[in-house]
Parts: sequence; structure tokens; C-alpha cells
Amino acid sequence: MPTLPYDVTTSTALRLVDVHKTYPGGARPVAALRGVTLDLASGTMTSVVGQSGSGKSTLLHVAAGLDVPTSGRVVIGGHDTTGLSADDLTRYRREHIGFVFQSYNLIPHLSVLNNIGLPLVLAGREADPDWIGQLVDALGLADLVGRRPGELSGGQAQRVAIARALVARPAVVFADEPTGALDSRTGAHVLGLLAATARRFDQTVVIVTHDAQVAATADRVLYLADGLVVHDETGASAEQVTSRLLAIGR
Ligand SMILES: Nc1ncnc2c1ncn2[C@@H]1O[C@H](COP(=O)(O)OP(=O)(O)O)[C@@H](O)[C@H]1O
Ligand SMILES: [Mg+2]
Repeated sequence: MPTLPYDVTTSTALRLVDVHKTYPGGARPVAALRGVTLDLASGTMTSVVGQSGSGKSTLLHVAAGLDVPTSGRVVIGGHDTTGLSADDLTRYRREHIGFVFQSYNLIPHLSVLNNIGLPLVLAGREADPDWIGQLVDALGLADLVGRRPGELSGGQAQRVAIARALVARPAVVFADEPTGALDSRTGAHVLGLLAATARRFDQTVVIVTHDAQVAATADRVLYLADGLVVHDETGASAEQVTSRLLAIGR
């Protein structure tokens, strides 16, 4: 086992136990996850890398409660989400999980400020203006709060999506290729903000990326191939990530 860059006594934010996910499919079922077991410590950032089709998005969706595993357990913040009804899972997700989609998924007719506050409205929770103000400042959005999504650049829209994912103070924030649509400089900047904001507010981050440079900014890198975690590395450099990806590539 590699040495972890954090105290092993820190609590576990996310635990997957022998998670399988099979899509029924047409002619034959697709086994997208084939037995994934992992623990992520609170307050850490983890990258998930691997070839297209290796199961990265499926892993995120199942871990985030956007989809349910075919078998196995998903435990978030000590709560086992296995067997929750769809309604209870949605409620749970709104309370404890943030998700940043590659395509931002902002609501076009709502202002930036109302997009950021949307998860609180959906959860029927009071907005905390101080907290929203801190997030807006941390992500450099102060001058943009009155705009509509159509009036934002890609990098700005992605920062709004990140603020929205963090606003309910979720224990875990997932991001599926959040920098995929951005040029590499903007992508690195947005990712740095996500990492810094999450670190400052002690949130656990899991990010899918194709970019070795981006992956290497995380504490830990998980390599997926054919629905399995085939390598688990801490403190990897971008060069190490690139060569490892080549080694597992197929
Ligand atoms: N909704 C779905 N229905 C059927 N097959 C799917 C579905 N989503 C993903 N898959 C399949 O599962 C495998 C893993 O996909 P995915 O998790 O999207 O991988 P990645 O994000 O690494 O590209 C692929 O073979 C993909 O075609
Ligand atoms: Mg994907």
C-alpha cells in the first residue's frame, strides 16, 4: 500500500465496497464497474483517470447517488445509501453531495446568483448570505452575480457551476471532466479554485480528468481500466500520471 499524505485516522468521506454496475444494454449487458472498493479520506482531493469507456463517469454517478449500483455498497459520510428509495436518495444527495457537470448545466433564465442558490431552494433550505458571499468571492464571481449564464465565458460558467456544487456545503464534491470544455490555462485556473475552495472549507473532492497535469494536482490518483481500479497512487507528478496511463492503456 502506498503511504497516504494524510493522517490515517481522519474520517472516511466516501466508501465503496465491491461496487458493480452493469447496464442492461441491447444485445448484451455492459459491465461498467466490476468490483470497485475504495475509501476516500475527508478533506482530500482524488483524481480519477483512465481511457474513454473505462467506467469513470459511471463510478462518479454511482458514488454521487445519481445512479445506483447493481451490487455493492456506497457509504457517504458514514451513511450507507444502499437500499434508499429514489426520493430518499435524491434528498440525501441534495444534503451531502455536490456535482459539477462537464456541460455546466446552468439554468439559462436564472441569474448567476440564483443558479448558485438553486440547490438550497431545491432542498428547502435557508440561504446563508455570508456563506454565499464567501463562495462568490473565493471563485471571483462578485462582478457576475447579476448576469445570465448566456452572458458568461466557459471559464466563468464553470466557476458558477463550482459555486453551485459547493453552496449546500456538501461533504463530497464530484466533478466529471469539469475542465474538459476549457482551454488548458483557464482549466487549470478553475481547477485550482475548486481545490483551494474545497480545501478551505474542508470538502472532499473527486474529479474525473483526461489531463495528467490536472490529475497530478490531486492528493491521490485512481486509474480505472475496464471497470476496475488498476492502480492507486498518491502524490503523483504529471509525468508519472502520463507514463502510468500509457502503461495501462489498451
Ligand atoms: N447509460 C448507459 N447505458 C449503457 N451503457 C452505458 C451507459 N453509460 C455508460 N455505458 C457503458 O459503460 C462503459 C463505461 O462508460 P463510462 O462510465 O461513461 O466511461 P468513461 O466515463 O470512463 O468514458 C462504456 O462501455 C459505456 O459504453
Ligand atoms: Mg465519462
